[in-house]
Amino acid sequence: MSDGIGEYGGVFRHVIGGRPEGWNWMAGQHQGWGGINMAMQECLVRVGALWQVKAEDQSGPLPNLATSWNWNDERTELTLNLIEGAHWSDGDPFDAEDVRFWWEDNAQDENVSAWMSPNGMGEGTMLEVIDPATVRFNFQSPQGPSRVQSLAYIQGCPGPSHVLKEHHPTYNSDATYDSYRGALPSDLLPPVVMGPWVPVVHRPDEIVIMRRNPYYWKVDEAGNQLPYMNEMHFKLTTWSDRTTQAVAGTGDFSNMENPGNYVEALKQSQAADSPTKAQFGPRVLSWELELNLSETLGVKDDVDRELRGLFRTKDFRVALSHALDREAIGQSIARGPFSYPYPGGFSTGSPYYDVDSTVYRPFDQAKANAMLDALGLTDTDGNGLRNLPGTGGDMVIDLVYDTSEPTDKKQVDAVVSMLAEVGISILPRTVEEIEVVADAGDFNMLERRHHWVIPTRQTCDYVPISDPCPDWHRVDNDGNRTLFDWEVEMVEAVNLIQETWDPAAAAEAARTIQRIWTENVYTIGLTQAPAALLINKRIRNAHPGTPVFMFEWAEDGVVRERLWVPASEQLEELLPGTAPVY
Ligand code: GLA
Repeated sequence: MSDGIGEYGGVFRHVIGGRPEGWNWMAGQHQGWGGINMAMQECLVRVGALWQVKAEDQSGPLPNLATSWNWNDERTELTLNLIEGAHWSDGDPFDAEDVRFWWEDNAQDENVSAWMSPNGMGEGTMLEVIDPATVRFNFQSPQGPSRVQSLAYIQGCPGPSHVLKEHHPTYNSDATYDSYRGALPSDLLPPVVMGPWVPVVHRPDEIVIMRRNPYYWKVDEAGNQLPYMNEMHFKLTTWSDRTTQAVAGTGDFSNMENPGNYVEALKQSQAADSPTKAQFGPRVLSWELELNLSETLGVKDDVDRELRGLFRTKDFRVALSHALDREAIGQSIARGPFSYPYPGGFSTGSPYYDVDSTVYRPFDQAKANAMLDALGLTDTDGNGLRNLPGTGGDMVIDLVYDTSEPTDKKQVDAVVSMLAEVGISILPRTVEEIEVVADAGDFNMLERRHHWVIPTRQTCDYVPISDPCPDWHRVDNDGNRTLFDWEVEMVEAVNLIQETWDPAAAAEAARTIQRIWTENVYTIGLTQAPAALLINKRIRNAHPGTPVFMFEWAEDGVVRERLWVPASEQLEELLPGTAPVY
């Protein structure tokens, strides 16, 4: 702890752009992001603080609810020893039944869209309860230490089985899967958690107030119970406002990830009397276009069907890549040296990124035009737009994106004008929550921030390891999907990373993924940028150098339960002297 043992009390003020969907994270609900879920949930292992561990000392994730683990000689069994004597925030003991319920009745129940995908621990993996403090994963084939990392953040975070079982269709014949997902609505407070803070007040579009969890089970090195801070606020406004308020000193924290604000925020935070410290990290933020590769999911008519056929044609994707001037796209979101063309795959700030394994199709309008012509996409009626050879109409592609960040809008504007120059009309459709559309596979083209840094982190967001992923190539409702051979090769490379005990072999497999991804233009990368972490100077133990995003987001990486503020600088609590009441 860079500033040592803390003083108790005070308030930590977050500002977020999301809104809590509900508290049932086991069923895949989100709590509005920006660190609110990480303040409530605890997972079997933890990776956020691994950025503090030197490469030669890295030996897998940090213990958390699983305090230790061991493998059998064949590496086909992973036994997790769970923390003993820890309690949920309502006093109920935490034990193996919570882990079993998370796995069997959520991750493995195909009617529940849990954050851990059915094959998230490998195909055919089973969980066995040994005793109340021990569980064991049984794998179909030998696995390696990376497998354990999949049990961190969001994926491996059990919920309170003693609360949720009665709402689950397996245990209650009156319940449906819809009612189960909605069983813990965001106005039902306080939810039962294992995390350091518990939501006790939720005023929609205004604030979520969290109070310290009296049952929290972590201590500092002197045995003092954590967290140090009594109260945590999540003001519900916008993501840009998070940066504005952090710079102004009315918020305590921001992952500055909206490049349009960088210059001004940097200027202001350099002033001696600025309330905020700003620190840039590596280029880990990237934005991309996703073309839906499913032949059927979300297909409404013949035009959609023809578009999907084109999307599945490599030359079409390559042509689109050549049509985009990524330098100009980058300058449109922030003038100056911040952005860098993104070819897809791992972001350049990832330890797994390799330039020599990256195939880049840079801006070349003539080439784009020639390739589109060769695909039979010509302008048959002379109106400046190419026509679809099958259905005959103008080449118009709908593109869905999220309105909450100007960074997305600026890139979409640039894409629209660049593709118009090669005879393709893009019809933007705006939504408030891109995840909802993406998860349903209900789009032809989609733009969003999407970055891959650590191959074992939420792998299902990137490669087709399970039926419901990735969003741009999901299995349709009848179970259909035609994977390309090279997609299968990427899955094999991911499996190798999960199985190997040799870090060099894992790095090699990551290079294979990078090569296949960029060679085939699996997604069309746009731009990438570094992010800066803004933290109020009042806050102690915010370790210098905490990256905004590396093994996990900074909210986890900074280890908030150890942050503290000297009593003389503490802010007044809104609910002093109160604890969550059940
Ligand atoms: C959102 C924000 C990120 C980070 C994460 C945490 O995605 O944009 O900066 O706060 O939430 O989950």
